[in-house]
Amino acid sequence: MSLILITGASKGIGKAAASQFINNGDEVINISRTPSDLKGVRNISLDLSAEDAPEQVAEFAEGISNQEIHLIHNAALLISDQIASLETKQFKAVVSLNVIAPQILNLCLLPKMNRGSSIIYIGSTLSEKAVKNSFSYVTSKHAVVGMMRATCQDLAGRNIHTACICPGFTNTEMLREHVGGSEEALEMVGNLSAYGRLVEPEEIAETIRFVSKSPALNGTIIHANLGQIES
Ligand SMILES: NC(=O)c1ccc[n+]([C@@H]2O[C@H](COP(=O)([O-])OP(=O)(O)OC[C@H]3O[C@@H](n4cnc5c(N)ncnc54)[C@H](OP(=O)(O)O)[C@@H]3O)[C@@H](O)[C@H]2O)c1
Repeated sequence: MSLILITGASKGIGKAAASQFINNGDEVINISRTPSDLKGVRNISLDLSAEDAPEQVAEFAEGISNQEIHLIHNAALLISDQIASLETKQFKAVVSLNVIAPQILNLCLLPKMNRGSSIIYIGSTLSEKAVKNSFSYVTSKHAVVGMMRATCQDLAGRNIHTACICPGFTNTEMLREHVGGSEEALEMVGNLSAYGRLVEPEEIAETIRFVSKSPALNGTIIHANLGQIES
């Protein structure tokens, strides 16, 4: 049994992953603003982009004992924006959750992480390519890959592995909101995969569970997108 610490397990991919870890007998802690309704999850209600997040995480981490920990950086913010109009405040909000929050957790949890632990970053297809109208998200998800690679180098010799999982269009609230709740638009993005459908959160969850316990994948980027059709 390991301790799984996952951000954003109140819904979507994080919730599906938490559910699979619990079914596997692991202990799961969720950090999100609203609690997860999954039975067996311990909830820490916390806004990871708040000013006092470093202090709040440090306080929570004090109560964690040294053990095998799998830290999954999943919570993220996606907003539509462009280089010509993105205001600093909005850019900071995205970077704060998508890039700074993982490091707040790394800093506090690393001293507790025994051999066999892992740090799994959730990136995106947009970690390695860009599309229009997603300036802050594309920037932050590219940064996540850099963090993962730097994590691998800095932790060499500690027997803690890291990887970045990059989901394709996945059937969650984030994607639904992004396309304005339109079923037609969802179907359209689903058709951009070689399977002609969206990825289900449970499919990403399976990948997260596998990667978190596979040290051979240290330093790797894993695309989980059903095969994207290139235009
Ligand atoms: N869905 C896709 O198509 C897709 C594609 C590529 C990559 N991804 C990536 O996959 C990951 C999960 O996405 P998802 O689609 O499952 O998103 P989601 O359904 O919107 O869930 C996001 C989670 O993050 C939490 N969260 C948001 N803001 C937070 C904050 N300030 N502090 C703490 N927790 C916060 C939310 O909980 P609360 O609201 O309760 O705080 C929720 O549990 C993200 O990293 C995303 O970038 C998703």
